Amino acid sequence: MASPSDDALQRACDALLSADGLVLATGAGMGVDSDLPDFRGSEGFWRAYPPLRALGLVFEQMANPLWFDRDPHLAWGFYGHRLQLYRVTVPHAGFERAAAMAARMPQGLFAYTSNVDGQHQRAGTSERRVCEAHGSIHQLQCTAPCTDETWTAEDVVVEVDVATCRAVGPLPRCPHCGGLARPNILMFGDGRWVSDRTDWQDAAFAEWLEGIDPTRLVVLECGAGMAVATIRHLSERLVRRGATLIRINPRDAAVPAGQVALVARAQHGLTALAERLGI
Ligand SMILES: NC(=O)c1ccc[n+]([C@@H]2O[C@H](COP(=O)([O-])OP(=O)(O)OC[C@H]3O[C@@H](n4cnc5c(N)ncnc54)[C@H](O)[C@@H]3O)[C@@H](O)[C@H]2O)c1
Ligand SMILES: [Zn+2]
Repeated sequence: MASPSDDALQRACDALLSADGLVLATGAGMGVDSDLPDFRGSEGFWRAYPPLRALGLVFEQMANPLWFDRDPHLAWGFYGHRLQLYRVTVPHAGFERAAAMAARMPQGLFAYTSNVDGQHQRAGTSERRVCEAHGSIHQLQCTAPCTDETWTAEDVVVEVDVATCRAVGPLPRCPHCGGLARPNILMFGDGRWVSDRTDWQDAAFAEWLEGIDPTRLVVLECGAGMAVATIRHLSERLVRRGATLIRINPRDAAVPAGQVALVARAQHGLTALAERLGI
């Protein structure tokens, strides 16, 4: 198993000890230690969704709003399955470790994620301290959309035939126009995503940042990929303003000059940091 170097761990701890606030910035790799798939490469995706191999559909094709027009039962088969999976997933211990590190800082923690799985909230982070850059599967919107409103998917039940990855039975509808509803997730080539909820979260994040000296901010980035680099861009933008970056990733851990790379899985890296800090 990849292990962070002692020197990198010490530099990370020094930064955490003198920080006033912690941005926990996460991509798909953060969920891997909670046993969630990261969809890396077509093989990884097809391992998670075998029926889509037969259809020759990879993640970038499946995560496209066109399926809600073309084949709504297939679209909801994919998203309905993920909705159920993320509902029952228990976040790994690394989430709690990061929260414990931030609890010692005057401004605490803000989670900024490209994940749509709601795992930060499940791990106990307040809704007001999470920004979901690509939306959330736990919120729905109209496919048209006829309104900029989004609503909770809490009571939504979509039965999925896992052998075909197709939804069976009725699909979620828009309460305003009666049309088909879809997850409030930014998909590939998505001109119909309602961004309002993420815009509010982004504004809350900007306000939180304003209360912190940028040189006393630590960005703890875990499992952010390079293909869709939303999270990496955020981390590196904050570094340019003076923040310290700790990048935890078993494969893609290279960092800009002066920043800290921990070559490790998310849970392992976060645990190693917390233990060294005596948390
Ligand atoms: N759970 C989810 O919500 C989910 C799951 C898959 C993809 N997505 C979305 O798909 C898009 C692509 O995501 P991405 O660029 O983050 O994914 P990616 O698959 O391109 O990258 C995942 C990254 O995680 C790293 N990684 C793998 N295992 C890890 C572990 N155990 N600990 C830490 N890091 C690990 C990999 O080295 C890689 O750098 C994003 O919008 C993402 O939010 C979301
Ligand atoms: Zn509608």
